Amino acid sequence: MKTQTHRLLRNLAIMVIPFLLLIACTSEKQLEELVQTPQEEATAEDPVVPEEVAVPLPGLPEDVAGYTQWLKLNAEPIPPVPGGDPHNGTKNVYVNKTREIIAPDGEQQFPYPDGSIVVKEATRPGKDFIGLIAIMRKKAGVDPDHNDWEFIEYVRNASDAEFKVIAKDGVCWGCHTQVQDIDYVFTELE
Ligand code: HEC
Repeated sequence: MKTQTHRLLRNLAIMVIPFLLLIACTSEKQLEELVQTPQEEATAEDPVVPEEVAVPLPGLPEDVAGYTQWLKLNAEPIPPVPGGDPHNGTKNVYVNKTREIIAPDGEQQFPYPDGSIVVKEATRPGKDFIGLIAIMRKKAGVDPDHNDWEFIEYVRNASDAEFKVIAKDGVCWGCHTQVQDIDYVFTELE
């Protein structure tokens, strides 16, 4: 009697377990389908969007969008100048030209070509966001007395604020003429 019950139970198990497995597999497959379907639809409908679209920081002109991906002239961040810094903060300077263009034989050549844009960003002392952007743009004919550089500087006081113009041209040449021999740009390619 005992062995009969055992056999019955065993036979029952042999019949039921594959059935249970079948159900489990089916529902897993259905689940997968459920999860995958919306993804496939989204891919078919949405156009391919490039991963990184460069947008300028708020208030800055379009032509400096993505400037941090340009060639950086300085190797290490430029620290604040002790005793008074005209562009107060820790700075990086970028240019929209390749190393091959501005330093064809490994040594930097001057002047910068027409269309050059030099961007300096500064993080103010004690802050953790870019608070100052200074731009020099070389445009043929715009100011032959100063190697055709246009100067402009923007500032902001909060990380989500818009940049506003604070000064341009005359006030800038006054100081940058010190480095007239290297095309008015203090920072040289390192
Ligand atoms: C009192 C001197 C002084 C004045 C005024 C000044 N700058 Fe500068 N600028 C510097 C120095 C020095 C550097 C070199 C990097 C540094 O230490 O900040 C520099 C760097 C720059 C750079 C990065 C390229 C470079 O020359 O190294 C830009 C762009 C720039 N200044 C734009 C401006 C603009 C725009 C103005 C006017 C609103 C201006 N500057 C006014 C002294 C000055």
